[in-house]
Amino acid sequence: MGTTRTALVTGATSGLGLATVRRLAATPGWRVVLAVRDLRRGRALAGELGPDTGLVALDLASLASVREAAAAVAGQEPPVDVLVLNAGLQVTRSDVASADGHELTFAVNHLGNYLLTRLLLPQLASGGRVVTVGSGTHFGTLRKSGPYPRPRWEDPRVLATPREGSGQRAYATSKLATVYLSRELARRTRGSTSSRSTRACCRPPAWPATTPPARRPSTAGSPRCSSGCRARRPSSGPPASSPTW
Ligand SMILES: NC(=O)c1ccc[n+]([C@@H]2O[C@H](COP(=O)([O-])OP(=O)(O)OC[C@H]3O[C@@H](n4cnc5c(N)ncnc54)[C@H](OP(=O)(O)O)[C@@H]3O)[C@@H](O)[C@H]2O)c1
Repeated sequence: MGTTRTALVTGATSGLGLATVRRLAATPGWRVVLAVRDLRRGRALAGELGPDTGLVALDLASLASVREAAAAVAGQEPPVDVLVLNAGLQVTRSDVASADGHELTFAVNHLGNYLLTRLLLPQLASGGRVVTVGSGTHFGTLRKSGPYPRPRWEDPRVLATPREGSGQRAYATSKLATVYLSRELARRTRGSTSSRSTRACCRPPAWPATTPPARRPSTAGSPRCSSGCRARRPSSGPPASSPTW
């Protein structure tokens, strides 16, 4: 079967992103574009996944790199059917700065993703989908977030300023920003009459069927995306290392 759809996945070289691109690359009809900050590892992975794999350098901690990555995608790739904003990080403190002087967690988990999405919207295929990978930490409750500090939403200029504080709280707050981004994108594109209408969806990683129920965080009350989907727990199918969007 020839290539029919293209998925661009950020943070493709480890963890959930790696599991995602492996699964997509093994699925007939998909071209996968790896957006990675370590090109050496990206090249090795692209070689492993096969000839129908694209590669683009992306450091979300640098807005210049995000712009270069978006320009590269526009110049060398077909329209993107699914943009998976998976890359993210958590650091111990909130006084570390990105290349642009922004608080690192907010910069990588939100600002970089936001700019990449804005720049790639014209590059999305008709009916394209933007999937942001959230987490349960934005809920800020013991039942849904575990013993994690609550997010503390403030003026984005404050959130973008490196300052003393907990890296975990910065992480939870950045994941709340991820939800806001996805919901706003969904709101703005819902009911669009444009042929380029886009669907946005924010999901915590789905848990494989092999994960004992007691170890799975609750997703009740998870935000719905424009198409009404909700973070789901697959009852069967993917192997333990594979996420399901
Ligand atoms: N694991 C969980 O339990 C869990 C739970 C809730 C939500 N999440 C979310 O799931 C997503 C993936 O997490 P994971 O567990 O797979 O983490 P991971 O194994 O640490 O992978 C994170 C990915 O993000 C990339 N990355 C980090 N900083 C970057 C930057 N500045 N620019 C570009 N890429 C960058 C990393 O690149 P390198 O490969 O070069 O390091 C890596 O590929 C994240 O958004 C995370 O917040 C995870």
